[in-house]
Amino acid sequence: MTKQTVHAITCAALAAALAAAGGCAGSRTEGPGAADPGKAVETPVPPAAAEPGPVEPAGAQEEPQPAAAAPAPPAEAPWKEAAAKGMTLSWKVEEGKLLRVKVKAPTTGWVAVGFDPEKGMKGANIVIGYVKDGVAVAEDHFGSGAVAHKADTKAGGTDDVTGVGGSEADGATELSFSIPLDSGDARDKPLVEGSQYKVILAHGAKDKLSLRHSSVAIVQVTL
Ligand code: HEM
Repeated sequence: MTKQTVHAITCAALAAALAAAGGCAGSRTEGPGAADPGKAVETPVPPAAAEPGPVEPAGAQEEPQPAAAAPAPPAEAPWKEAAAKGMTLSWKVEEGKLLRVKVKAPTTGWVAVGFDPEKGMKGANIVIGYVKDGVAVAEDHFGSGAVAHKADTKAGGTDDVTGVGGSEADGATELSFSIPLDSGDARDKPLVEGSQYKVILAHGAKDKLSLRHSSVAIVQVTL
């Protein structure tokens, strides 16, 4: 204890003497620390002032943003729309293969769309359906004559309508569904994305698909 006390005093005395002379090892140890804060204030400033430099290549900073915006591409394509006689057709092509469609008409009966007809409904790639008790029904038909249509399945074809949905509200029916642009079915007309087509919109007063339409309209669309 005594030795330590004596040593401490000696060291304190030596430190005081050195401090008076300009500092000792002890005060140097802290000195740099005390000096650092001073320099630290200045040192960071230059870098901060130097930052405006790197900021100039702002373009370089914007580049990463497009890169960050890269994951945006998976964003869905917007719906396109055409309307006539109170009926609305909305559509969009997905992955160049699937045509998503929504048909809305002022009826609680059937609604239909016929792509690329030749005369009347002849040759049209038709989808006709309705919503009953909240359940949407849609069938894949084709224009078998100018004023006649038939289910593909009743003429050796296949029903290629998928994702059927729909709703009835305020006296209007909206039917949504998807069909392949090219189903491979001889009863469907192959459709090409980006091409223009004549499209029939029609609706009937009841959910009975054999009941003639109360309204028919033609719209031009580019898929
Ligand atoms: C549901 C059973 C259907 C019946 C009984 C029916 C009957 C008729 C009849 C009798 C005509 C000639 C007279 C008229 O213009 O009204 C006609 C015309 C026509 N129908 Fe239908 N049709 C039906 C469904 C459809 C569907 C589903 C479409 C297309 C999605 C369609 C498209 C047409 C077109 C484009 C015309 C020609 C209209 C014109 O030239 O002004 N029909 N249909």
